[in-house]
Amino acid sequence: VACPVAPYCNDDTDSFAYTSARARWPTILDGVIADVKQTVSEKGVAEDGLIAKLEKVKQELLGLVELVIRPLEDDGGEDIALYNAELKRQTGAVPMTYANGPWLYTECYLYRKIYSCFKTSKGWEEYDFFARQKLDAFKSSESAVVELAIRYKALSAQLHGDVSKASLEVLFREFIDISLWGNATDLSLLTTLSLDQLQSLQGAAARQKSEKNILVNDVGKAWAAVSDTTKYGRVDIVLDNAGFEFYTDMIFALFLLDSGLAETIVFHPKSIPWFVSDVMPVDLGVLVSSLSDPAFFTKNREELDYLSSQIMKYSSDGKIIMRQSPFWTTSLAFWELREGGLGGGHEVWDDLRASKLVIFKGDLNHRKLVYDAKWPRTTPWATAIGPLASAKRTLFSLRTCKADVVVGLAEGKEEELEKFWIESGKSEKDTGRPGIGWAWSGKWAVMPFTDGKE
Ligand code: F6P
Ligand code: MG
Repeated sequence: VACPVAPYCNDDTDSFAYTSARARWPTILDGVIADVKQTVSEKGVAEDGLIAKLEKVKQELLGLVELVIRPLEDDGGEDIALYNAELKRQTGAVPMTYANGPWLYTECYLYRKIYSCFKTSKGWEEYDFFARQKLDAFKSSESAVVELAIRYKALSAQLHGDVSKASLEVLFREFIDISLWGNATDLSLLTTLSLDQLQSLQGAAARQKSEKNILVNDVGKAWAAVSDTTKYGRVDIVLDNAGFEFYTDMIFALFLLDSGLAETIVFHPKSIPWFVSDVMPVDLGVLVSSLSDPAFFTKNREELDYLSSQIMKYSSDGKIIMRQSPFWTTSLAFWELREGGLGGGHEVWDDLRASKLVIFKGDLNHRKLVYDAKWPRTTPWATAIGPLASAKRTLFSLRTCKADVVVGLAEGKEEELEKFWIESGKSEKDTGRPGIGWAWSGKWAVMPFTDGKE
């Protein structure tokens, strides 16, 4: 399905696409190459020409070999044909390059191309070239991990008692907030979670403080959907980042299961290493083993062991499920979640029929919901999600803004934010729009909802 509005492109000097393609991506590639070298030297394994392949991708990215983006070579992946068809479809009058192409397409293409280097190198087919980074970052969030584990254990005991619907709603909102800001890994926003302390001034103040940075907040509608006991209790979470964010998503999932608000949680990870830190199926095991390893997290073993045993229990009971689809690592917008949708979009859409709430985590998933197009920022959410507004699925996006596309703002809000950004001395000096950086900073968030019944 095509979008009537043009996408953000890498030659838009006012867009984060511009610096992403020129400064961020080469650095990411350098990191991948350094990781392979480290693994080769530590493990003494053969690299099978992998480094040369990665260097070539880097040369192409820097425009040193040939500018034009070529179709991906067949590496046996079923998604290759679709990537190449999209390349053709999205190429305009001039050939597509990393310097001028649509941001969303070229970025997905780059990650797929890096993966292809590994897929075609002997012994490296299954290697997660971002694993080291993900694990290091998780380890460094130990204090917040422990704090949440303590609160979860206290809460979990109380949840088995008689809890009023009003208390559950307060908790639901808290966990949503934690999972939302987990996307920015903004640890200062963790608030008190025990039932008695819910109304404490500190918790309320912290919530209020973060709440003013939530520009669109449909949490009330999401609560109505999740607390609807007439529906089978399945909740879906389309995951974003491993490490602390996945940890907050998991705690939220445990809360839904413990409280009976959900009977099953279906997580949707990525099947290949993606956008550096995204969750892959293997990351569930990594999460559990990190939490249960006394050498990884040394303090508060009792709470951490309890947490990991809960995850293992629900996983082996089939109440926590990791469900893969090639759809999540195509370059396609989520407008393909429809009957006949490409790249696995149809199958996912069909599967989501059984869910009472589908939560999309993070920035990239959000960009795909709105086609990463240049919508005026006052565009209603129902317009920007195109056919999803009437797709008969209940969708809720939890996103801290790290890219240009933002919709659903009240008249005048954008101007106010740009003014604030400039006055805080943080102007993007190289753009024609010095106030735009607020939208890239991860300090603001949106949580829009649709019941798919427009
Ligand atoms: O804007 C920077 C960026 O890396 C984008 O390329 C991407 O959309 C996003 O951030 C990734 O963030 P998240 O992990 O929240 O999807
Ligand atoms: Mg991510």
